[in-house]
Amino acid sequence: MMLTRSKTWRDLEAHRQALAEKSLRELFAEDPQRVAALSFSFEGLFYDFSKQRLTGQTLQLLRALAQEHGVEEGIRRMFAGEHINNTEDRAALHVALRHSGTPFPSAGVDVMPEVLATRRRMAEFADRLRAGKCLGHQGAPIKDVVNIGIGGSDLGPKMMNYALRSVAHPSLGVHYVSNLDGAQMATLLQTLDPRTTLFIVVSKTFTTQETLFNANTARTWLRANLGEDVVLQNHFAAVSSKPERAVEFGVNKDCIFPIWDWVGGRYSLWSAVGLALMIAIGPQAFDEMLAGAERMDRHFASAPFERNLPVTMALIGFWNTSFLGAESLAVLPYNESLKYFPSFLQQLEMESNGKSVSRDGEPLAMPACPIVWGELGNNGQHAFFQLLHQGGRLIPCDFIAAVHADFPLPGHQEALLSNCFAQSAALAFGKTDAEARRDMEKAMLPVHEIERLLPHRVFKGNQPSSTLLLDGLTPATLGALVALYEHKVAVQGMLWGVNSFDQWGVELGKAMASQILPAVRDAAQAQGLDASTQALLDFSRRHL
Ligand code: F6P
Repeated sequence: MMLTRSKTWRDLEAHRQALAEKSLRELFAEDPQRVAALSFSFEGLFYDFSKQRLTGQTLQLLRALAQEHGVEEGIRRMFAGEHINNTEDRAALHVALRHSGTPFPSAGVDVMPEVLATRRRMAEFADRLRAGKCLGHQGAPIKDVVNIGIGGSDLGPKMMNYALRSVAHPSLGVHYVSNLDGAQMATLLQTLDPRTTLFIVVSKTFTTQETLFNANTARTWLRANLGEDVVLQNHFAAVSSKPERAVEFGVNKDCIFPIWDWVGGRYSLWSAVGLALMIAIGPQAFDEMLAGAERMDRHFASAPFERNLPVTMALIGFWNTSFLGAESLAVLPYNESLKYFPSFLQQLEMESNGKSVSRDGEPLAMPACPIVWGELGNNGQHAFFQLLHQGGRLIPCDFIAAVHADFPLPGHQEALLSNCFAQSAALAFGKTDAEARRDMEKAMLPVHEIERLLPHRVFKGNQPSSTLLLDGLTPATLGALVALYEHKVAVQGMLWGVNSFDQWGVELGKAMASQILPAVRDAAQAQGLDASTQALLDFSRRHL
């Protein structure tokens, strides 16, 4: 049955209307048990969603909706390796990548032997490199590793590598290049020694334009500096589901690590796509990260919805988007090392659920997926928080912080945490007319000045947020954190009815870029292009 036609949907709609008049201040005042009821701890994570605009009853209704809409069955099908990615006829079995123990069947075949064998090969490679035993063409140990990839072949490992830089190898440089703009590769190459640099070309398809451009540039640079006869195998490894294409490029087959069609790019951090990350943090920390994710998987697959962290997080986001009408979700990490977390989540959420037709190709009854954006919270405070506080738009926020600092300096961590907690409280509870007036009276402002400034000094509050506290940035808690968001996205996809595991929407632009490329230099090739593109090309050709 269509989601919006069910009785539970109508009950939720009536409940939304009844709740609309209540502010977060009132909801907190009415229920002293609110925080206990609307927060969870799971291993090293604390999730406080008491500042969301909902009550226990909201969640109860949302859980009923999820039950009626087959979320339990959807989760079972995902873990069973069924072909839930129906437009590409494949499983979405990233959970197998962090699975330990029993076999993990995908379409009747146990994928674990291949998964474990690949992880062992990765660990041997990473250990040798970390021990200075991987030698370049001229016999010097490799000192810098460059991951060349984009999207899921870049964001996950880069984000996690940065988050775990406090435990990374002290003298190895691990770098990430994704952009087609030569400015990224060119400036990095200036800092590298070709004799001691290894490139890992990471591309599931091995056809991605950005990655192949950068890989070609790297190969040319090596040949220019080390001679045409450079032994590429000492300087290149690859990760791909199309190993033959990597061999054709010149990578030795012993240095090619597989991924499989059942691993989606944005879910691939746990596979050989994480090789550069494993080199940076070491195989043991990588295993701890997998174990943290696996614990979240087990919890997700077995906990009842009332105590299920990813399901709860998904329902809250669904409520905000589909009932309260929020257009976006701001992700605000209060931790410098989580700098890349918002961009990682952008791909995870928006490439997964940024769709307007259902799995069966029917138009959706409502828009799916919020616009995910964000920035380091403390920097954001001095940039866009003004709009969050007084802009009058509904913008749910995820605050994320680690209690223990990864790079402690006296006093910093306490101040950072207090900012994080203050912002979510200020957004939720605001400042009333009376409070603003009282503050100005205390400051002895004249009456006419108080009246003039009052509208500017009032904070309406009622801006919903959740706060996720990690005990620290450890491989295990970060593994659990990423798995949590992955599963949230999957559950939301089930509710909106989309296939969260394909990404057809990125194809058109790619195809058009290849069509336009020859016209950038040659006007004759611009036939048939639209007038705006022609004008852009004309200007570009004149200035190239
Ligand atoms: O952006 C589209 C996309 O296909 C992503 O899904 C993927 O993560 C990225 O490109 C890179 O793809 P590949 O690993 O095949 O180079």
